[in-house]
Amino acid sequence: MTSNALSAEPTPVTVLGLGAMGRALAAAFLAGGHPTTVWNRTPGRADALVAAGATLAATAAEAVVASPVTVVCLMDHRSVSDVLTPLADRLAGRTVINLTTVSPADARATAAWADEHGIAHLSGAIMTVPVLVGGPQSMLLYSGPQALFTAHLGLLERLGSATHLGTDPGTAPLYDVGLLTAMYTMFGGFLHGAALVGTAGVSAKEFTELAVPWLNAMTLGMPAMADFLDSGDYRTDVQSLDFNEAAVAHLVHTSREAGIGADVLLPVLELIRRQISEGHGTESVTRLVEGIKDPRTSVR
Ligand SMILES: NC(=O)c1ccc[n+]([C@@H]2O[C@H](COP(=O)([O-])OP(=O)(O)OC[C@H]3O[C@@H](n4cnc5c(N)ncnc54)[C@H](OP(=O)(O)O)[C@@H]3O)[C@@H](O)[C@H]2O)c1
Repeated sequence: MTSNALSAEPTPVTVLGLGAMGRALAAAFLAGGHPTTVWNRTPGRADALVAAGATLAATAAEAVVASPVTVVCLMDHRSVSDVLTPLADRLAGRTVINLTTVSPADARATAAWADEHGIAHLSGAIMTVPVLVGGPQSMLLYSGPQALFTAHLGLLERLGSATHLGTDPGTAPLYDVGLLTAMYTMFGGFLHGAALVGTAGVSAKEFTELAVPWLNAMTLGMPAMADFLDSGDYRTDVQSLDFNEAAVAHLVHTSREAGIGADVLLPVLELIRRQISEGHGTESVTRLVEGIKDPRTSVR
């Protein structure tokens, strides 16, 4: 899905939106030698970039005609629509790569709009923070036409690893939400664990020294869990839902005994109990995905 191909001549690029992330993207393009034009709705955000060699455009219209490729990094779908809609004629025959966080449906709507106006379009999702953009841990995901992705790979790899996830423009935003969901719920668990051991006077720093290697080791079990999910066969000889019900109930009990809440744990316990009540107590804990997929059973 990835390649290291770099184009010989750095492609000129325009960046629309100079928030924390847009500035980082523009700085990475400049560092890679790409002639970079920048624009932001509110003035005064481009000084450091201009000092580093960027060209500041007075208007978004002026910015997009300066380059064959425009990278968009605004707040949300509405701001993308507000900025791009009046520029359709100027963008015709050019490429738009939208790295703004949007929903899959919104990404498809922007792609359809672009198609209608003869604009090449890639959806993207930035799976990193501004300070890491351009570095070895920076990961970006893309979806849209394969040929367009390949043609601009040299440019995209200035920002970090570039992974193409298929032609549906909604796929990169969907992965974004999937990965962020995994991250937020993991962080919720980490915070709960820190609060729990904190009741015994353990600092969060001390807890983290064990939590990081522990969580890293636990992620090694994910490929085996994926096998259950992909097969839909949840039969197992080890650590059934019944076993996990007792384990998570113990976590809830101990948290309450320590005088803290159990808000992070209770939805997991609820999912486990629902599967058991439906007769699946001897099956794998990965069967929880069936409850997650069923919108009728959502508590909120
Ligand atoms: N920061 C991160 O760690 C991170 C990580 C991954 C993805 N992202 C995504 O990257 C995008 C930008 O994030 P950010 O951190 O750069 O946010 P930010 O610092 O708040 O910047 C938001 C940008 O959007 C512009 N904007 C908002 N509404 C606009 C409108 N109606 N018309 C024109 N411009 C408008 C702002 O312009 P003004 O200066 O004029 O307000 C600013 O340039 C978001 O979609 C975010 O989810 C961010």
